[in-house]
Amino acid sequence: MHADHNMEVKLSNRNVWKCLGADRAPCRCHIKTGFFLLLTLVFLVTAITYVSEFSFNAVFPDTLSKKVLNQIRSYYVATEYLSARENQTTFLATNSVKQSPTQTTNLSVNHHVAHPSNYHFILDEPDKCSQWDPFLVLMVPVAPHQLEARNAIRSTWGNESSVQGKAVLTLFLVGLTGGAEAQQKLEEESRQHRDLLQSNFVDSYFNLTIKTMVIMDWLATRCPQAAYAMKVDSDMYINLENLMTLLLSPNTPRQNYITGYLMRNRSVIRNKKSKWYVAEELYPEPKYPTYLLGMGYVFSNDLPEKIVEASKEVKAFNIEDAYVGACLKQLGIVPSSPPDPSQFKAYMGKYKRENFIRVITTILGSPQQLKDIWKDVKKPS
Ligand SMILES: *[C@@H]1O[C@H](CO)[C@@H](O)[C@H](O)[C@H]1NC(C)=O
Ligand SMILES: *[C@@H]1O[C@H](CO)[C@@H](O)[C@H](O)[C@H]1NC(C)=O
Ligand SMILES: *[C@@H]1O[C@H](CO)[C@@H](O)[C@H](O)[C@H]1NC(C)=O
Ligand SMILES: *[C@@H]1O[C@H](CO)[C@@H](O)[C@H](O)[C@H]1NC(C)=O
Ligand SMILES: *[C@@H]1O[C@H](CO)[C@@H](O)[C@H](O)[C@H]1NC(C)=O
Repeated sequence: MHADHNMEVKLSNRNVWKCLGADRAPCRCHIKTGFFLLLTLVFLVTAITYVSEFSFNAVFPDTLSKKVLNQIRSYYVATEYLSARENQTTFLATNSVKQSPTQTTNLSVNHHVAHPSNYHFILDEPDKCSQWDPFLVLMVPVAPHQLEARNAIRSTWGNESSVQGKAVLTLFLVGLTGGAEAQQKLEEESRQHRDLLQSNFVDSYFNLTIKTMVIMDWLATRCPQAAYAMKVDSDMYINLENLMTLLLSPNTPRQNYITGYLMRNRSVIRNKKSKWYVAEELYPEPKYPTYLLGMGYVFSNDLPEKIVEASKEVKAFNIEDAYVGACLKQLGIVPSSPPDPSQFKAYMGKYKRENFIRVITTILGSPQQLKDIWKDVKKPS
């Protein structure tokens, strides 16, 4: 802000000198100078108002932005599916087309749409885990165009390579982009950061179940050496110290363990107009098994292979996190409640530093908010 101010003053001074140097009538010069000074003043006031509003909203938001509020509202109103951010009609249409009657009689032949064997990697980091030997892998599903979200993560929790002496790795998974130019940019980004995975399904909200299963497949086939993994959305805050403390606790199982924000006794939505509608043909039971909210769940790394295997027997439906829940049920694995359930928070409310110091993960409103809050939490107290 001070820099801006000085720059403005210098600029207007330069105009004054230019004006005085020019052989024009002195009165015209004065008018012009006055005009410039007035403009500068107006600009400064606007800039100061803007900057102060911006930083207050960003670092100390009253409500962690409208976006989060909207999410929470949808979440409670429409039976609690937080990560639903788009329209799913197309997925259902595609799904029912692919599930022709003859195929549905043999699920293992059908391997339905979500099974990762239907897809292959276009961008891959097959040696990353053998080089890095991570204890924990953070897998972030993200849309190809969300470069800002990836960069915010890269400069915050994605840049923590070692926590309490344990190696941590962050990778992003995207699907296919819309065009050649976007693909080229993505490949450049991949060369620069070496943290992008890309699979050959069309990247859309409708295909999030596929995305999650491809994440599981990558962990099972490229990273079996890791002890734990987390599927975490790109708009999340993570406190890695607290997450690591949880994972290193002697009470935390090393196998068949999955935890996060528990979704219990949730009804399947049968209202065709709803975003979260699931057809009875895809999921016949009225309730979902207990599952973990898709925003961020943590699991022992023996699970990805088991979930991929189980998914051959569980027909795909378009609610990504509930689908993982259905696979867990098929495996007979019960999700665990975290030791402190308040550490997996959907909504934090008004920004308070002490809350972000206590939590493991929570939803944020924007990439800028992640950077601002990160800086504020990391500053020495
Ligand atoms: C969802 O998609 C359907 C069909 O493409 C469209 O009619 C409907 O308006 C969409 N709903 C929203 C909320 O975008
Ligand atoms: C289903 O597919 C599996 C794997 O391809 C095959 O071994 C099995 O014979 C098939 N079952 C039927 C009933 O077609
Ligand atoms: C990651 O952290 C290192 C130092 O710990 C720093 O030099 C680097 O600039 C950071 N990377 C990003 C993308 O912020
Ligand atoms: C993914 O979603 C899009 C529409 O959003 C659809 O056209 C496509 O067929 C879906 N499936 C795959 C495997 O790409
Ligand atoms: C589950 O939800 C139904 C309503 O959908 C309610 O009647 C029932 O008591 C709930 N069960 C438990 C165990 O909370």
